[in-house]
Amino acid sequence: MSRPNPNQVTKAGVLGTGVIGGAWALHFLRMGMDVVAYDPGPNAREKLLAMVEHIWPTLVKLGLREGASPQRLRFAASLEELVNSVEVIQESTPENLEAKRALFAELDRITPPDVVIISSTSGFAMSDMAVDLQHQADRFVVGHPFNPPYLMPFCEVCGGERTSQEVVDWTAAFYEAIEKKVAKMNKELPGFIGNRLQEALWREALHMVANNECSVEDIDKAIAYGPGMRWAIMGHCLTFHLGGGQGGMAHLLDHFEDSLEEPWTRLQAPKLTQQLKDDMVAGCLNQANGASINDLILERDDCLIRIMATLKEYREEKGITR
Ligand SMILES: NC(=O)c1ccc[n+]([C@@H]2O[C@H](COP(=O)([O-])OP(=O)(O)OC[C@H]3O[C@@H](n4cnc5c(N)ncnc54)[C@H](O)[C@@H]3O)[C@@H](O)[C@H]2O)c1
Repeated sequence: MSRPNPNQVTKAGVLGTGVIGGAWALHFLRMGMDVVAYDPGPNAREKLLAMVEHIWPTLVKLGLREGASPQRLRFAASLEELVNSVEVIQESTPENLEAKRALFAELDRITPPDVVIISSTSGFAMSDMAVDLQHQADRFVVGHPFNPPYLMPFCEVCGGERTSQEVVDWTAAFYEAIEKKVAKMNKELPGFIGNRLQEALWREALHMVANNECSVEDIDKAIAYGPGMRWAIMGHCLTFHLGGGQGGMAHLLDHFEDSLEEPWTRLQAPKLTQQLKDDMVAGCLNQANGASINDLILERDDCLIRIMATLKEYREEKGITR
């Protein structure tokens, strides 16, 4: 077997070209790779080309690797053509366990043995998706990105019971080579790391809206102008470490022990009633204040690029490698 060096992958396959698959295609293109895409959905090719046209100027602002070009994207006519023309596959088809199981069983049958197959799944464990694999289950692994993968650096790599450590390591190294910040998980866990953290916060937000304790706008303000600003710099734990003064996390845990436990008591899922759904949707539309989804995507991306540039410049200046 001759898997390519993870630092030298030049041909990536994108399976499913919706929100996430399309964004992966853009990231691979920006990294100077050839990209082959396959998606049997209606007008998938046209939708992907429109996405590339809309987002490419953002990537130009971010900086392209040598040779990067939207011209290096090609659409395969069949799944067979895709799997035989790439060195790695990033799967981003809908979050449906039965459909992923069937697709993975087919990929297992037809994909050349060296090709690693990475799933973008937001929450399924590879062990559950891989139940029908009969050939080479060792090269199926989860590589979960955050939206949009052409900008957000973080990815979680998590193998299943039958994934080899070599493939987990290869995938993490591949992602690092294309400028991702990687967490290699030790065990499978539904939702992985980032989504479990987001969902814990989301659950609490839904409670506050359901109980009419504050508005949707207040919740987003609390994050965007409150803890969210600090989280981009050093995450949740190191931020709290500073909350303990010179005593750091040890002092914080001792000092606030009882009052820390108090807000944890409500963390059970609220009932997602129609009223709660309506309130959440109305609150978001109110906040958007007429801006379209595409307007909001450009605003998010422009601001993310500036935040990333500021953090990079500061860290380079100070020699911070965290
Ligand atoms: N949307 C997010 O924020 C997000 C973030 C991280 C991970 N993910 C994960 O990424 C995956 C894709 O999610 P999405 O939001 O991009 O969904 P999406 O609905 O936007 O795109 C899915 C695409 O897959 C295509 N498709 C369906 N069956 C296919 C097949 N057999 N072969 C190839 N293509 C097929 C569809 O035509 C569609 O274009 C899911 O597993 C999801 O959990 C989503």
